[in-house]
Amino acid sequence: MQIFHHIQSVRQELQSQRKQGKRIGFVPTMGNLHDAHLALVKQARENADVVIASIFVNRLQFGLNEDWDKYPRTLEADIAKLRSVGCDYLFCPEEQEIYPNGMDTQTRVIVPTMADILCGASRPGHFEGVTTVVTKLFNIVQPDVAVFGLKDYQQLAIIRRMVQDLCIPVEILAGDIVRESDGLAMSSRNGYLTPEERPKVNQLYLTLTWVAERIRAGEKNFAELEQQAKKKISTVGFRPDYVTICNSRTLAPAAHDDDEITVLGAMYTQGARLIDNVSLSLGNLTAET
Ligand code: PAF
Repeated sequence: MQIFHHIQSVRQELQSQRKQGKRIGFVPTMGNLHDAHLALVKQARENADVVIASIFVNRLQFGLNEDWDKYPRTLEADIAKLRSVGCDYLFCPEEQEIYPNGMDTQTRVIVPTMADILCGASRPGHFEGVTTVVTKLFNIVQPDVAVFGLKDYQQLAIIRRMVQDLCIPVEILAGDIVRESDGLAMSSRNGYLTPEERPKVNQLYLTLTWVAERIRAGEKNFAELEQQAKKKISTVGFRPDYVTICNSRTLAPAAHDDDEITVLGAMYTQGARLIDNVSLSLGNLTAET
């Protein structure tokens, strides 16, 4: 695996691949890689001739009181993991390379409305930071296809919308959520959980699955279901942020005749904020998790 720190050199290499007619697959990450990231790399491999991952802990998407400082930096281990799944290239720039003029005056990419609800309401400016850096990374890498995990459902929906609105010529693929054996979605932030919390945090997934089952069984009072779901989370000692039943594509509150529904949730533990989601298709009555 070749490693690049500079925009010019990664562009030059990828340009030569493109000239040979190679299809480029891209997996942007913030590092601290686990099996869910590696699954995205494998998916990119199946859909492209060459695969590039990036590792960049993007300060622009962290709020002032968030965990940018303590976000785990595990570059050596990440490189070994990427090599083990046959990733061809890694782009891991310094902050100066991505934001040479600082962040205050950096041009931003904003996806209105969708970025202001759910996680965007609790983390103002977060998605603006994501869409800005992803646009920059897309301009640097110019991938044919890029893969994002479904665990960050809202992020994926916003990126799809951004790509469509800005006519960015990249195909966006969704990677399935990878779960621990008790249902907890894999996440870099699971490392912040205490040993006491760990056995109970799958409550988020259990609750979202319960909501999905109630909807499938015909429950139509979505507001009441959302309230009950938040109570289930509080009962085991966590602070719910939101549980919301959404239209899977627009993320607007689901209407009763929507066929594609996603139940999204977020909750706070002592040291982390965890998110998860469960989708269900009422058209053929099968749940996708
Ligand atoms: O999902 C992430 O890890 C980040 O939000 C991303 C897409 C790499 C942008 O920094």
